[in-house]
Amino acid sequence: MSAMATCDSCLTARERAAYARYARLALPRHTSYPAVPFWSDAYNSEDYGADLEAGRRARKPLGLYVHVPFCEKLCFYCACTREIVPKSEFSSTGIADSFLDALESEARRLAGDAGGGDRWVHQIHLGGGTPSYLTCHQLERLVGILQQNFRIAPDGEFSVEIDARSVSLEQLATLRGLGCNRVSLGIQDFDPRVQRAVNRLQSFEVVKRVVDGCRALGIASLNFDLIYGLPFQTLNSMEDTLEKTLALGPDRVAFYRLAVIPEMFRWQKVFKPADLPSGEIPLELMLLALRCFTSEGYEFIGLDHFARPNEALAQARQARALRRSFQGMTTGRGLEVLGIGPSAISLLGNSYAQNAKDSAEWRTRVRQGYATVRGWRLSAEDQLRGELLQRLYSYGEVDTEGLEREFGVSFATHFAGELTRLRLLEEDGLIEHRAGSLGLKGLLGRLLARVPAAVFDAYLPPEAFHQGLSSPEASRVG
Ligand SMILES: C[S@@+](CC[C@H](N)C(=O)[O-])C[C@H]1O[C@@H](n2cnc3c(N)ncnc32)[C@H](O)[C@@H]1O
Ligand code: SF4
Repeated sequence: MSAMATCDSCLTARERAAYARYARLALPRHTSYPAVPFWSDAYNSEDYGADLEAGRRARKPLGLYVHVPFCEKLCFYCACTREIVPKSEFSSTGIADSFLDALESEARRLAGDAGGGDRWVHQIHLGGGTPSYLTCHQLERLVGILQQNFRIAPDGEFSVEIDARSVSLEQLATLRGLGCNRVSLGIQDFDPRVQRAVNRLQSFEVVKRVVDGCRALGIASLNFDLIYGLPFQTLNSMEDTLEKTLALGPDRVAFYRLAVIPEMFRWQKVFKPADLPSGEIPLELMLLALRCFTSEGYEFIGLDHFARPNEALAQARQARALRRSFQGMTTGRGLEVLGIGPSAISLLGNSYAQNAKDSAEWRTRVRQGYATVRGWRLSAEDQLRGELLQRLYSYGEVDTEGLEREFGVSFATHFAGELTRLRLLEEDGLIEHRAGSLGLKGLLGRLLARVPAAVFDAYLPPEAFHQGLSSPEASRVG
């Protein structure tokens, strides 16, 4: 075998050709199954109330996701649910306080109906938007609301998304004092030219100040989000970004492929196609990151995460306790999740439910009851396919015999159509199918996991895995 074929972060010429064919397809990322566009607005507040009540009776442990939508300035790549409120307006209009009033009503109601006082909360995530846009006093109030209504496990994970450009050391200390033990920083890229193009200027020194502050406070785990595929990124500029990243030594890194969907995120229209890395460059950027992180001892997890072996994500992989969720790959398998705040998503038993995205609508709905606008109750078939996809994305393989035992189906009969379609992917070297197991093959399979996943997605047309989707909510695979 050639050196090329044995290298863990290399692809052969044949694999590169296959990669080029599939990477241009737009397919779901399966942060849920079915993907959000297939959920229904027929799932309503009444369904949500019944699911909360079922959760109360089952008394499963909880996770809380709180969405704080405000940001000071728009990053031009942004695909998150956020609301741009300039600093002067944010501090003078009482917008944050009225947001916290509504959050308090929602948390109190959810805790009451889900039995929040009797169930341990093992995970809290403050996401955004920019949670660190709130002042120390507002952060104290927010966490106080959670503490008053829920029974928070003292050794649980408490993570917060922080904007290094604006967070103060006082805010970090406040968060630490409130129990925050994990911080996630949106870095994206360190190159000033790239940063100017995406309207997010933050120097290495600014980030270092926050990283040093977190370490001094004893924050157990630091995550960096990076994006590849941004305007003006080159192999040289990425090498520099990765070097700077390693110099700061995050415990975990999310290395996302830019989702460019200007039909949905119209501000992305400022990106000129000629400025975006094209051809084989995005693949090279990913391979560079893979080499860089794995040679420094990070483990490659799921589609796009890297973690140090002693970090919770890597340990969750060892313990087969990973979960593919709206935050990508996470720990906390087996928790019911209550989503609080605009756009927040709950996972209750076998149901997903999403709150209204627009803040004003969310507030109005909270005043009237629950803020649920859509959701999905998983059928037995959804549960089987969802579990299969969880395993494929998390571990790169599916123990088909185990799945047969758990769900009482014959894999070969139940998925006869899918197995026929998978032959094309087997010929192209993306998957290997042996007795009792189905797995992604090598690095090519790992990078293109969304393609075999599309074969098992019963909500997609059967040809999606080789033709892609035209739906505006699917993004390019590579
Ligand atoms: C939900 S956002 C919120 C993070 C936080 N507001 C910040 O920017 O620091 C989490 C991450 O999603 C990623 N992200 C946002 N828009 C994206 C896009 N269009 N394509 C790929 N990743 C994106 C960024 O890496 C971002 O840090
Ligand atoms: S700070 Fe985060 S949520 Fe806000 S605009 Fe930038 S990427 Fe989007």
